[in-house]
Amino acid sequence: MLLEVRDIHVHYGKIAALKGVTLEVEEGEIVTLIGANGAGKTTTLKSISGLRPLTSGRIVFDGTDISKLQGHKRVLAGIGQAPEGRGIFPGMTVQENLLMGAYARKGTFREELDEVYELFPRLSERRTQFGGTMSGGEQQMLAIGRALMTNPKVLLLDEPSMGLAPMLVAQIFEIVREINQRGTTVLLVEQNAMQALQLAHRAYVLESGRVVKAADASGLLDDPEVRAAYLGGDLGVD
Ligand SMILES: Nc1ncnc2c1ncn2[C@@H]1O[C@H](COP(=O)(O)OP(=O)(O)OP(=O)(O)O)[C@@H](O)[C@H]1O
Ligand SMILES: [Mg+2]
Repeated sequence: MLLEVRDIHVHYGKIAALKGVTLEVEEGEIVTLIGANGAGKTTTLKSISGLRPLTSGRIVFDGTDISKLQGHKRVLAGIGQAPEGRGIFPGMTVQENLLMGAYARKGTFREELDEVYELFPRLSERRTQFGGTMSGGEQQMLAIGRALMTNPKVLLLDEPSMGLAPMLVAQIFEIVREINQRGTTVLLVEQNAMQALQLAHRAYVLESGRVVKAADASGLLDDPEVRAAYLGGDLGVD
């Protein structure tokens, strides 16, 4: 198992955001985490990347307990993250933004840079444009590209399709599939449950800080409760 999250509890002050979340991601998989606003999806990703401390429980990555490891060391260990809301550097060029992604890492990054430009031709065309002047979709690509610069074993994506027009959403999902096919494991948080379930191998449904369902993604697409809550009802029946 590449990533194991074991019964984690996470608090913001007195507010319990995660009340015992357990999930697993196997090498090579795309696993998606779906759930309503406030369910704890972002908190789960932040706990894995080390941005939120655990109250209890543990996180094991690649056979090592990383529960107390500092965030930047988790990046070096192979956990890449494109955060919710993108978080690119607006005053830096596209290429500078990408190089910032590799900053924490030793060694060369020519290969990674070439691969990112291959995955995202748009970024390649706009190497010298300032990040802040890129469109919403382009900034999303930049955030994903930057996360790939560390050559992660697992890529954590928090709502990569947020705020994008439908055609661009489809393009981002296609790129996530491509990234996975090139060998990177993906843990994907999405509001866009239908498309996430079509893309992923397995899925977890979070509700109020708890996992309420874990199944093959295709199984959840047919699940009446999931359809009613997250897929806009039982389509096709009137
Ligand atoms: N910095 C914070 N301070 C206090 N409470 C927070 C903070 N961040 C998140 N929370 C609370 O923790 C819970 C889980 O939030 P989280 O951001 O993980 O949800 P989410 O599933 O990602 O939601 P969304 O789909 O809206 O992004 C929510 O009740 C939220 O209000
Ligand atoms: Mg969120």
